[in-house]
Amino acid sequence: MIRLADVHKSFGSKRVLRGVDLFVERGTSMVIIGGSGTGKSVAIKTILGLVAPDAGTITVDGQETGTGDRDAFLARFGMLFQGAALFDSLPVWQNVAFRLLRGALKQPKDTARQIAIDKLRRVGLGADVADLYPAELSGGMQKRVGLARAIAAEPEIIFFDEPTTGLDPIMAGVINDLIREIVVEMGATAVTITHDMTSVRAIGDAVAMLHDGVIQWTGPVSQMDSCGDPYVDQFINGRAEGPIAAVR
Ligand SMILES: Nc1ncnc2c1ncn2[C@@H]1O[C@H](COP(=O)(O)OP(=O)(O)O)[C@@H](O)[C@H]1O
Ligand SMILES: [Mg+2]
Repeated sequence: MIRLADVHKSFGSKRVLRGVDLFVERGTSMVIIGGSGTGKSVAIKTILGLVAPDAGTITVDGQETGTGDRDAFLARFGMLFQGAALFDSLPVWQNVAFRLLRGALKQPKDTARQIAIDKLRRVGLGADVADLYPAELSGGMQKRVGLARAIAAEPEIIFFDEPTTGLDPIMAGVINDLIREIVVEMGATAVTITHDMTSVRAIGDAVAMLHDGVIQWTGPVSQMDSCGDPYVDQFINGRAEGPIAAVR
C-alpha cells in the first residue's frame, strides 16, 4: 500500500532522512520506532506530501505522492496528530467533522454532526461531549476526540503520531486497545509513530526502527525481541550502552 524507496530529506545542513526504504502492506499495522528527533514525523509528512523529499520515490497504492488530484489523494488518509492538535475555537463535534464540513468530503451539516456523534460514541464519548470545547476536556478525552476525527471520513489509511505521549499508563492502554480495534474493524492500513514499547506490542503487526536517517531493522513485531539488531535491542530494552548515543 505504501512504499518509500531511498527517500532523502535535509533541512539546511541537517540530514534527517538518508535513504529510507519502507514497505507497508495493505490492511496491516506498521509501527515506526526511534528516538526523539530522528525524523519519524518528517517521514510520514513525506508520505502525505506535506514535506517534499530531496530524493527518492514514495508511492501510495501505486500512485506517486505529489502527482494527480491532491484533494482526492488526501481524502484517503486520516491522521491523529501528535498532541491531538484540536482547534480550540471549534466545539468538539466540528473538530471531529472538520473534513466533512468542507472540501472534497463535504456533507450537509446535520449529516456531519450525526457522523461526529457516531464516531464519538465509537471512541467511548457520549453525545453530551459534542458541544463542549477542547479546553473543557481532559488529555485522554482530547486524544479520543483526535481519534474520532481521524476516523470520521472512514479513511483507507490512518496515521497515528505518538498517540499515547503525555497520557498515564492506564489511559495509554485504553487508547492503544481502541486504535487496534478500530484499525481491525475498518480494515485500514495503519502507520503509528511511537517510542512507547507497550504501544508497539498492542498496535503493531510490523515494526520499523528509524535511526541515523535509515530504517535499521524492520520485521514482524513477534520477531522484534529476538532480531539481534543492536539498535532495536538497545531501544526496546532502554539500555544506556549501545550503538545509539545517549546524548543527541
Ligand atoms: N520544517 C522543518 N524545518 C526544519 N527542521 C525540521 C522541520 N521539520 C523537522 N525538522 C527537524 O528534523 C528533525 C526530525 O524531526 P521529526 O521528524 O519531527 O522527529 P521525530 O522523530 O521526533 O518525529 C528534527 O531535528 C527537527 O528539528
Ligand atoms: Mg514526531
